[in-house]
Amino acid sequence: KRVVLAYSGGLDTSVILKWLQTEYNCEVVTFTADLGQGEELEPARRKAEMAGVKPEHIFIDDLREEFVKDYVFPMMRANALYEGLYLLGTSIARPLIAKRQIEIAKLVNADAVSHGATGKGNDQVRFELGYYALAPDIKVIAPWREWDLTSRTKLIEFAEAHQIPVSKDKRGEAPFSTDANLLHTSSEGKVLEDPWDEVPDYVYSRTVNPEDAPDQPETITIDFERGDGVALNGQAMSPATLLAALNELGRKHGIGRLDLVENRFVGMKSRGMYETPGGTIYHLAHRGIEQITLDRGAAHLKDELAPRYAELVYNGFWFSPEREMLQAAVDYSQEKVAGTVRLKLYKGNVIITGRKSPHSLYSEKVVTFEDDQGAYDQRDAAGFIKLNALRLRLLGRRDR
Ligand code: ARG
Ligand code: SIN
Repeated sequence: KRVVLAYSGGLDTSVILKWLQTEYNCEVVTFTADLGQGEELEPARRKAEMAGVKPEHIFIDDLREEFVKDYVFPMMRANALYEGLYLLGTSIARPLIAKRQIEIAKLVNADAVSHGATGKGNDQVRFELGYYALAPDIKVIAPWREWDLTSRTKLIEFAEAHQIPVSKDKRGEAPFSTDANLLHTSSEGKVLEDPWDEVPDYVYSRTVNPEDAPDQPETITIDFERGDGVALNGQAMSPATLLAALNELGRKHGIGRLDLVENRFVGMKSRGMYETPGGTIYHLAHRGIEQITLDRGAAHLKDELAPRYAELVYNGFWFSPEREMLQAAVDYSQEKVAGTVRLKLYKGNVIITGRKSPHSLYSEKVVTFEDDQGAYDQRDAAGFIKLNALRLRLLGRRDR
């Protein structure tokens, strides 16, 4: 039996790797994705080699451009926010990892795939819905739902028995569960578990405290084409390069921190802390360019669809016909979402200060409070209001 494991090189997936070899008698193929988590990936290769994985069975792939271009940007076109606030940084990465894992499984003729998500969360659902959508008959091994390593202590005992290095701070209780990529860093568990307790400063890893951010605001521009960001301050950039540059700006100005209690798909509430520096700037800039380029009907329909889209991504239904239908509608709306947005970054805030577009629907001539020279006839409004008021008047006569 051969299994492809989504392998970070960390303690948990190193234990899983060993466990699959010893308890499951599997030949393990490791797959480590670079999604811009900002960690060295070569140590993962060395650890996999040390565990006896064949060199040709160690896959380390840079997926940063694909991640931003084909996952983050399409989602941003939809203005998707889960429960009104969460920019879905972990949720949107899972389908890509699942997709590449299945490709590798086909490449090496593996009959199973495995991941390190627990049985209590969303990630197991996202990985596995992705696997089953792309390889309907694949076997899934989810060690956290199967093994008897039911506590941190047992996990560490197993690691030590198998010469898996355990760092000092992991010997005590791990402080919390984190996940990072180009879009965000999330933290959950331990010191965050009481939703009344404020998130301690040391949990934040990629933004300065807004209170300590520069006293001088910084003004930037982002150019859009067909609903996607293409340039920062007039300089053309690839999707991943643009998001990375926005992350740096967001870090400096303390942008994109979110303390949230959310509803997991499996039914429980969980408290998390997110840092989405570049994504927060990008999301607001995208809304800025849509303000002048989208018709009201299209914009409002998008706003109704956005929560549906977000819920599909959150629940792991990226590879579903309903997500693809929504994507087609969203993408159709973005045809003329092009132009430039100017933003001011200041102590945790993103303030839009200007927008322009060759496809702008904004008409100063129509809207002006000065003489509009017949562009709009104020007398038309009387009938418009009268007819809209008709049923309110009928009701008023009856009931008041
Ligand atoms: N609650 C967030 C989500 O469901 C973040 C999950 C973080 N995952 C992790 N393995 N640390 O998208
Ligand atoms: C996990 O359960 O592995 C992390 C949390 C989640 O997936 O929601």
